[in-house]
Amino acid sequence: FATLKQSSQSGAPLYLQLRKSIEDAVNRGLIGPGDALPSERDIATKADISRVTVRKAVQDLVKGGILIQRHGSGTFVAPRMERVEQSLSRLTSFTEDMARRGMAVRSAWLDRGLYAPSPDEMMVLGLSSNELVARVARLRIANDTPLAIERAALSASVLPDPAGIGSSLYAALELTGHRPVRAVQRISAANLGDSDARLLEVPPGIAGLHIERISYLASGKVIEFTRSIYRGDAYDFVAELRLS
Ligand code: GLP
Repeated sequence: FATLKQSSQSGAPLYLQLRKSIEDAVNRGLIGPGDALPSERDIATKADISRVTVRKAVQDLVKGGILIQRHGSGTFVAPRMERVEQSLSRLTSFTEDMARRGMAVRSAWLDRGLYAPSPDEMMVLGLSSNELVARVARLRIANDTPLAIERAALSASVLPDPAGIGSSLYAALELTGHRPVRAVQRISAANLGDSDARLLEVPPGIAGLHIERISYLASGKVIEFTRSIYRGDAYDFVAELRLS
């Protein structure tokens, strides 16, 4: 940073020069994923430029997904995302998918409880207005990287205690003989809104995937209605196609 001021004669605004030198440092591996950036004040002092200039450069890099800001703890180089390749031909759970890749899975609860069903939950799950819906909403995290927000809805009659599912919904359903055997999954494009982007630790507005899964028991009864938002920078969905 120290050379910034001297090179300011080069014409480009200072904040762009600072942005470029931080980007170069990341690309050349001088600072790696997860490393903390020095404080705004330190950078401003070292480069002999104003904090406003530093903030502008840093905000640009946060918007571009190169840096992330964690409230209270500072600014870091964003973790480099290895894309997850997900087959579209098998009915698996998030826990199974990540465990197969040797990734450590955890979830953060966003919501769990029994509620009066919404009209679409009533329609998809075949509930009447005097029945309850069990909602299980989680931020799904693999190797400490948040990958998806999943909001599952099931009939309260099959999941009377949504808080008691442990770490895997499908494992809990398996125990009660309600593991789905078939599902219809619909994938569409979505731009991440502010609150979803914050949870997924990506800049707001970037591309995401909206995934809706309706899954069925062997009897043909709908068991699960899940709406998820997956990070677009993290997933490739792959289907094998055959000439039938
Ligand atoms: C996938 C599906 C969800 C399903 C979930 C269960 O992520 N998209 O529809 O609810 O797996 O995962 P787990 O058993 O890990 O809770």
